[in-house]
Amino acid sequence: MQWTVSSTTCADLPADLLVLPVFQKNGKPDFKPVGKILGGGKTLTNVLDASGFNAKAEALLPIPTHNTKAGWVLLVGMGDAKDLGLDKLRKSAARAAAKARAMDAARVVVNVPAAKDLGFDDQSFARCWVEGAEMGLSPMGDLKSGQKKGPKSPKTWKFAADAKRGRALRAGLAEGKSYADGCLLARDLVNMPPNYLTPAVLASRARRVAKAEGFKCTVLGVPQLKKLNMGGILGVGQGSVNPPRLIVLEKKHSAKAPTISLVGKGVTFDSGGISLKPGLNMDIMKCDMGGAAAVLGAALIISRLNLPVNLQVLMPAAENMPDGNAVKPADVITMANGQTVEVLNTDAEGRLILGDALWYAGKGKPDYIMDAATLTGACVVALGNLFAGVMGNSGELIETLEQAGGETFERVWHMPLVDEHKKTMEGTWGDLKNIGGGREAGASTAAAFLASFVDDETAWAHIDIAGPSWADSASAISPKGGTGFGARLMARAVQILVG
Ligand code: BES
Ligand code: MN
Ligand code: ZN
Repeated sequence: MQWTVSSTTCADLPADLLVLPVFQKNGKPDFKPVGKILGGGKTLTNVLDASGFNAKAEALLPIPTHNTKAGWVLLVGMGDAKDLGLDKLRKSAARAAAKARAMDAARVVVNVPAAKDLGFDDQSFARCWVEGAEMGLSPMGDLKSGQKKGPKSPKTWKFAADAKRGRALRAGLAEGKSYADGCLLARDLVNMPPNYLTPAVLASRARRVAKAEGFKCTVLGVPQLKKLNMGGILGVGQGSVNPPRLIVLEKKHSAKAPTISLVGKGVTFDSGGISLKPGLNMDIMKCDMGGAAAVLGAALIISRLNLPVNLQVLMPAAENMPDGNAVKPADVITMANGQTVEVLNTDAEGRLILGDALWYAGKGKPDYIMDAATLTGACVVALGNLFAGVMGNSGELIETLEQAGGETFERVWHMPLVDEHKKTMEGTWGDLKNIGGGREAGASTAAAFLASFVDDETAWAHIDIAGPSWADSASAISPKGGTGFGARLMARAVQILVG
């Protein structure tokens, strides 16, 4: 979809659909601005009053019109102006966009509400409207055969507002498009079936992004992983016919810009390995590369926004499968930093590939490391699918992620990580073991394992996205399946850190 801004009055812009956001005042819809645009005087307001449209946040009312250059007008309920947050705005935009698609509107005009009705600036309005509409119309990317008909997403969207608001709106829509594209890229990767998205294919998709965005891309295969003694990535991948990779994207901005590493778990399918998972819902484990998808999406956003940061993105990728050659419980493997790990459960594989990647990230002495991983079922039990767990060694970084989560509505919840958790991960036959004692504090003990591969001096945060990376059912801004969770969150966190 293409987004522009126009200073022509909205009624004079040729379109298939004119979208008019309507607010509530004292619990009633405020039709005054609608009357001003559509004319029709008392008759129109009487008709609207009788329509049952209440301007609540979920309400939509399409009406045919004759005195605008648009064939149809869509009233979009925004609720009470004082309750309108960025999240509600995204959802209203998503609902309006879904309706526009259902109505087969190719050209849509949006009347930008009066500045006094918005509790935020015009740039935020445009950014969140674009994000909501783009995310709401996110394609499912299914592989069904046969011809698909049905309505198409709108081709063009125009924001109509006073010329003096144009600058901020333009900045916002460019930003919103970047954020949405990063999220949609991540969703697309998560939704790909695991026979399509192997570690090698993930690498080629990352290369494509790198090429378009001017990143240097290095893909380490098995021989190079062996040279680096990456026993974690090699161990997890050794049971699969699709060999593992470490995918590295880098872009330098300037000597004085901070260096940030983003690390994402890229298990393209997690069967559990020899510690095989139960069959029920095992298909959802194609989402186990959601962290890699999120960091790649974040890289796209950060690059499009041209943020002043020296960025490194690491995606350790492997397929976790049972096999005669697979790693097995009681095996002891040696990680890239020289530490030995006894593998007590081959289903605790994410931390093994992340350990090697975090060590690799630390070599460049970055100012910040963030990792995103669908790491533990324990985190899903604790927080459900609305929040990711965040743990780490830096209050500043965790607070930044909390702020970014509030703004993007990819929310995080700070969970404990203390020395006692690290103690739990000490091994009997090796330095570490890959599972804690029982089932207690599974998200924290997993994070404690990762902490052994991060320098205490480097600010680091681990984001466990096992819950929110997958949606069992559709919402206004996401179809069922991969949500792309983490891409917008991390990009926004980087934007705050460098801003
Ligand atoms: N990929 C899973 C975690 C997961 C669970 C992701 C639910 C998405 C949704 C991870 O590799 C895993 O299997 N973790 C184990 C760890 C345990 C063996 C210590 C788990 O959570 O059960
Ligand atoms: Mn697992
Ligand atoms: Zn996993």
